[in-house]
Order: sequence, then C-alpha cells, then structure tokens
Amino acid sequence: MKITVLGCGALGRLLAYFLTKNGNSVQGWLKEDKKDSIYINITHINNMRDNIILPTNNVLHLNNSDLLIVTLKIGSIVYSLKQIINFINKNCIILLIYNGLGIENKLSFIKQPLLIGITYHAVYKEKEIIYHNHKGLTIIGKIDSTVKDINYNILIKKLNLALTNVIWCKNIHIFKLKKLAVNCVINPLTTIYNCKNGELLKYNKSILSICKELSNILKYMGVSINTKDLVILITSVINNTKNNISSMLQDIKNNKYSEIDYINGYIIKYARLYNLYVYENIKLFNIIKYKELNIINNNEYIIGNKFT
Ligand code: PAF
Repeated sequence: MKITVLGCGALGRLLAYFLTKNGNSVQGWLKEDKKDSIYINITHINNMRDNIILPTNNVLHLNNSDLLIVTLKIGSIVYSLKQIINFINKNCIILLIYNGLGIENKLSFIKQPLLIGITYHAVYKEKEIIYHNHKGLTIIGKIDSTVKDINYNILIKKLNLALTNVIWCKNIHIFKLKKLAVNCVINPLTTIYNCKNGELLKYNKSILSICKELSNILKYMGVSINTKDLVILITSVINNTKNNISSMLQDIKNNKYSEIDYINGYIIKYARLYNLYVYENIKLFNIIKYKELNIINNNEYIIGNKFT
C-alpha cells in the first residue's frame, strides 16, 4: 500500500515505522518544515532500539496514496487537511486518528472515503526518540453512514499485519465516546500531578468522582456505562499504559496548547445543552487552562526577549 501519514508526532511516527517495516511504501507529511526526510528513532516495549529514515512531503506520493492517515492534534486537522485536499486522489481512504471530539461537523469538504479510528497504543516522544509503551487495540469505522461502502476488510487486514490488534467496528462512536471519557480522566490528571499514567492509581477518589459525572453525561450521548465499569475501563488503561506520558502532559511540557477544549471542554459544552452540572470536569478544565496561560506568557516572554 502507498501511504502518507499527516502529522509526524509520537503516534504518527510510530504508525509510519510499523507500516514501513511491514513492506508498505510510506511517507510522512510535515506541515511547516518542508524536509525531504525525517529520522525515526524508536525504543520498543522490550527496550530494543531501531531507526528508519522516513521520506517526507513528496506531492506525487501524496497524489498516489491509497491511504492517508491523519495523526495531527484535533485542533489542526481541519486547517491542515484543507491545505492538501486537492492533492489527494478521490479513492484514497482518509483515516483520522485523534483524541477528543468536536470537529466532526467541519469535515464535509472531504469527498474521499472518511474513516475515524481510536487507538490505545501508548507512545511518547522525548528528545526525538519515540518510546512505545503499550501495543493497544485500534478500532476503526466509518465517520458516518454517508461514507461509501467499499471493502474495508483488506485495509483492516493490512493494518492489522503492521500494527496488530486492529479491528473494524460498525458503531465506532460508542468507542470514540468511551475513549473520550478515558482521556477526560487520564490526560488532565497526569498533567496536574506531572506524572506518568501509572501513578494515577494513587488518586482513586478523584477518578471515582470524575467517572460518576462522566457516566451520567455519556447516557445523554447515547452510551450506557455505569460508574463502576467506567472506573474498571480507565484503571485498565492506566495499568496498560503505566510507563507512558500522556499526550496532554507531553504538550504542556513542550510548551504547546493542549487538547483540553476538545476533551473536558467538549463535555462541558455538551452538559450546558442539557443543563447538567459537571463540576469535576470544569475544575480540571480550569486548571489546565491556567497552565496554558503560563505557556502564552512564557512564549511572549521569549518573543519579547528576542526583539529586545
Ligand atoms: O492521550 C493519550 O496519552 C492516550 O490516549 C492514552 C491512552 C491516555 C495513553 O497515554
């Protein structure tokens, strides 16, 4: 398969690495930095190291791709896809893998078969090295019922060979909402306590109160999962990804805006529609927003220094 991966952060590089190793013709697509290639340096779960050179930003490769995997942060997906949509052929399958929710009604400009995926792979990037901590399940499905019915089995089989544990799901939205709940707990808490995922087990009281609120709002969103089962789900993700640094903590450590608006922020907006009270989510949202404010101030300070 000819594949382009748009978004070469930790997850994008991990997927590009596995797909390349499995014999696919893969390139990365960088938004700003127009290099010809990047170096992917990976440390596997068993501490074995490997590296590959990934070609990047070849328009012909993009044009001939059978699959475009988008692993950008949710906030930049729409803008970045619009920049390249005219170079993507009409049969190319576009697979969006992102945390959070809130851009789904802004994707109608995409006429290609559009899939969304969620993944429980745990991966982080530190000093240009990709640390893969857990080979989790990846679930893929059509973004909505208007997407063309083509034979997606071949795609799933090929992805499964490269990434393992890839499954097709008719009702992806239930899994998307459950993953949203997982991210609503793990991402802000690890950022607040500045800790790896595994350390969150100490904060079981906070996890319980956030889960109570989430299981209630998930009902309104069409997913029935009681607080106990939600705690079990989140605890199992915490255990499986115990050595990982959550994507939100990685963003804040790297002085980048987080995805909080699309994670707990999405829950808060939804709660307003139904006059529901989501005190725990608001609390987490405000703390992370406060941390983001420090980032803006730091950046201003750096820019200020540059010009003085
Ligand atoms: O955003 C993340 O970091 C990941 O979705 C997860 C599963 C919480 C693992 O760190």
